Amino acid sequence: MSININGSSIDLPSDTRVSLLDLLRDHVDLVGTKKGCNQGACGACTVLVDGERILSCLALAIQYEGRSVTTIEGLSTEGMLHPIQRAFIEHDGFQCGYCTPGQICSALGMLGEVKRGLPSNVTGDLADGSITLTRDELRERMSGNLCRCGAYNGIVDAITEFAEAT
Ligand code: FES
Ligand code: FES
Repeated sequence: MSININGSSIDLPSDTRVSLLDLLRDHVDLVGTKKGCNQGACGACTVLVDGERILSCLALAIQYEGRSVTTIEGLSTEGMLHPIQRAFIEHDGFQCGYCTPGQICSALGMLGEVKRGLPSNVTGDLADGSITLTRDELRERMSGNLCRCGAYNGIVDAITEFAEAT
């Protein structure tokens, strides 16, 4: 049984209790994905599975057999940062950087949800069909990703710029 991580097929461990987060960090040496709370409360461990954001600390690796996982290491191409990574740098969207991989993966997943018309708790007119990514909408949708440095204004600016450019 295997899982695809950043384009490479990886054998799943025989121990079915291994979380996806521990598989990434301890078995595959992809330590960009961070372990903050390890209980689903901080968002530091967010990765993309087939384009959708999940908390890897709450997932068993075995659950994602045959699926495609993208981590922060998988976003750059040919040594070039992903545009959203560049936006975070340009807008000072981090200080210590510990939450940043999760913020970035979460933002990409979140923008996919907006594109698919999935409402949030603050979406106004559900019949409207399209969702405007206001700052309130963006903050609500990113509220599962905590930043202990308080770099929220830069994070919102970076995601807004990236969203407007794509
Ligand atoms: Fe997964 Fe905090 S480490 S949510
Ligand atoms: Fe330090 Fe977010 S940049 S926790």
